Amino acid sequence: MTGLGKIAVLGAGNIGGTLAQRLAEADFAEELVLIDIVDGLPQGKGLDIAESAPILGFSTRVSGSVQLDALEGADLVVETAGLARKPGMSRSDLLSKNAEILRGHAEAVARRAPQAVCLVVTNPVDVMTYWFRHVSGLPSARVFGESGSLDTARFRTFVAQALGVAPRDVVGFVLGTHGDTMVPIPSLTSVNGVPLTGLLPEPELQAITERTRHGGAEIVNLLKAGSAYYAPTASQAELVRAVARNEHRLLPVTAALDGPYGLHDLYLGVPAQIGAGGVERIFEVTLRPEERRAFDASAAAVRADLDILKALPAAAG
Ligand code: 2OP
Repeated sequence: MTGLGKIAVLGAGNIGGTLAQRLAEADFAEELVLIDIVDGLPQGKGLDIAESAPILGFSTRVSGSVQLDALEGADLVVETAGLARKPGMSRSDLLSKNAEILRGHAEAVARRAPQAVCLVVTNPVDVMTYWFRHVSGLPSARVFGESGSLDTARFRTFVAQALGVAPRDVVGFVLGTHGDTMVPIPSLTSVNGVPLTGLLPEPELQAITERTRHGGAEIVNLLKAGSAYYAPTASQAELVRAVARNEHRLLPVTAALDGPYGLHDLYLGVPAQIGAGGVERIFEVTLRPEERRAFDASAAAVRADLDILKALPAAAG
């Protein structure tokens, strides 16, 4: 079953390449183009994926290009381009460089694929999603970012390991920014409806919360070169599926906030309903006082990064 005409994945690194593979194998679109500035990389990865189609049986036509013109007519664009974090580097350190890269891409999307739904994964993702929306001028519902969906997967994994239950049976949310001030929400986490609070002693839950906050850095430190891409692309593929199949999924993403949670002119991780049009609805959930305080601190951290971005030369014009 094919849902979309064309998907464009910007950036053919570990994330872009692995994501293209997952999306092609799931047959979410008739056509998928992988785009990067490094000549040979997107073409090579695209051809390699295409050559797996006879064995795996998918129909998506996969190609690669070094031209942004290849965005033409895309229904869904995933922005993965940008520098990845190196050990000791914060997501915010990436801000200036990645803002420059995304400016060109967002302008090209506005010209070539103005009807697209855009999923941004470049870090720092809450700020980069805001920036991509701002530069592209696309409606905010059609631009959202992967944040909590990945962090929630990590949180669910650690909880499942601690309890010895199936990872898929742990449900819950990590909200706020995709950064050190992210907010795992134990009060909304359960094992298929059985509340987490009570199943795990408080110190163990605290340790899991801390580990989740630094989940990206844990992988960066292990790999030493590059950052995570298996769990991130699994999460991105889940979001693409929600759009391609118009699933109306309730997933944590970084979405445009203008009212909900008392926040305005900000992108931040919240539970959102994702379907063919992108963000269809934002759910305002009741948080415990300490969770709400952490959520507000998370919002303040994104706002501070956004203020840095707005003061950069890249933000001019
Ligand atoms: C992560 O958390 C790279 O931000 C990405 O793994």
